Amino acid sequence: MTKGLYIKTYGCQMNVYDSARMADLLAPLGYGDVAQPEAADLIILNTCHIREKASEKVFSELGRLRHFKEQAAADGRQMLLAVAGCVAQAEGEEIVRRAPQVDMVFGPQTYHRLPELVARATEHGERGLVDTDFPVDSKFDSLPEEHLGDEASAFLSIQEGCDKFCTFCVVPYTRGAEFSRPVTAIVAEAESLARRGVREVTLLGQNVNAYHGEGPDGRTWGLGRLLRRLAEIEGLERLRYTTSHPRDVDDELIAAHRDEPRIMPFLHLPVQSGSDRILEVMNRKHTADFYYRVVDQLRTAQPDLALSSDFIVGFPGERDEDFADTLKLVTDIGFTQAYSFKYSPRPGTPAADIAEQVPADVASERLATLQNLLNEQQMAFNRALVGRRMPILLERPGKYEGQLIGRSPYMTSVVVEAPSRLIGQLVDADIHEAHANSLSGSVVTREPGDGMSPAAASGEAESETRATA
Ligand code: 5AD
Ligand code: SF4
Repeated sequence: MTKGLYIKTYGCQMNVYDSARMADLLAPLGYGDVAQPEAADLIILNTCHIREKASEKVFSELGRLRHFKEQAAADGRQMLLAVAGCVAQAEGEEIVRRAPQVDMVFGPQTYHRLPELVARATEHGERGLVDTDFPVDSKFDSLPEEHLGDEASAFLSIQEGCDKFCTFCVVPYTRGAEFSRPVTAIVAEAESLARRGVREVTLLGQNVNAYHGEGPDGRTWGLGRLLRRLAEIEGLERLRYTTSHPRDVDDELIAAHRDEPRIMPFLHLPVQSGSDRILEVMNRKHTADFYYRVVDQLRTAQPDLALSSDFIVGFPGERDEDFADTLKLVTDIGFTQAYSFKYSPRPGTPAADIAEQVPADVASERLATLQNLLNEQQMAFNRALVGRRMPILLERPGKYEGQLIGRSPYMTSVVVEAPSRLIGQLVDADIHEAHANSLSGSVVTREPGDGMSPAAASGEAESETRATA
């Protein structure tokens, strides 16, 4: 008998990956996705603790779900409610105290035990189960092969946790110490993805370029070496990785960007602030100048590299001149996209205890100023792509009939008119128009015999045409 599973995911790509793996773990127990929480037998909230707003959302959602659970009980149906992810890790028992309707709480390092927890709840009627260990054995050894649909692009988790301890950040506490999966396990997973039609893999880790996994030669491999190995896998046309720390960009990684065309020319490299004084208090372990130098080296290696970043404004003690340094860094470097946030004090982190907090209205004003600048840069970058021809990986249907959405090498979404059978294909597209968050273009049909486009493979048109359904 199939049972309904509803997973709601908050936060980062790591959580998206973890949620998919939870579904994989539960499939053999008869759980299949349902579209609405009301229809579910098991609801999992995979949560994020990074900022206060993200955390609080969980408790308001739990309030809403309590009604569904009560309704299910009134209908004589058992509905289980689980909280997973970083709020689960940080709050543990407290969640069950605050929200007694929650049956299970488990962290990012223990979700491989989910089948056991579900069995305890369904077969033995146990409630309020909390599992927030940091087990010695890696959960990766107990995860089944991932289920795939027709995805052209997939995430692959290679590293977890963080040893950097930036003073604003909960990650080292919720995700634990750095851990890198061995190279052979990663290569096997990537080969399996490629065999099943995946063209692009994004390697994931909280601090992915701190990767230092055991290689098949018994030595420790860094990310640069791992990327080169993955680039040898047939069918994997595109490699990406996220999220990186400037301190962990080493020569090997820079050289991989130089030599390996499958490493896409886009890098998310958070800097957080342009002020050395603030970077110091943030314990970022780098200066603004260090960031400039790393970017210079990367751009020398891969000249069309597009950069993205994260910024925090209103960090305790941030003065006007510190914020001006951030604006200067943004102007100097030029980002193609970026995420910016108002500082949010997180309990248990050192920065939350700094007395000199920035008033909320000042932080809001700075955020608006920074976001304007970043939006202008993004728009300018998108406009500069108009008239260019570039490879697009077609990923999913667009908003309107006959449209598909793909990604440029620089991560920009590109809307084209194309038949849905092209989903999963890498095609060339001419870019015609730039918008704030996307581009529009048309698919180029290549010369017959070049083996790239399906139109060419079937001996169709030779010159440029707009592909239609
Ligand atoms: N307040 C605001 N932003 C934060 N981030 C992490 N912790 C906080 C916090 N306490 C931001 C950083 C990080 C991104 C994932 O979230 O910019 O890079
Ligand atoms: Fe958090 Fe990133 Fe700093 Fe690690 S490097 S503590 S994950 S902000």
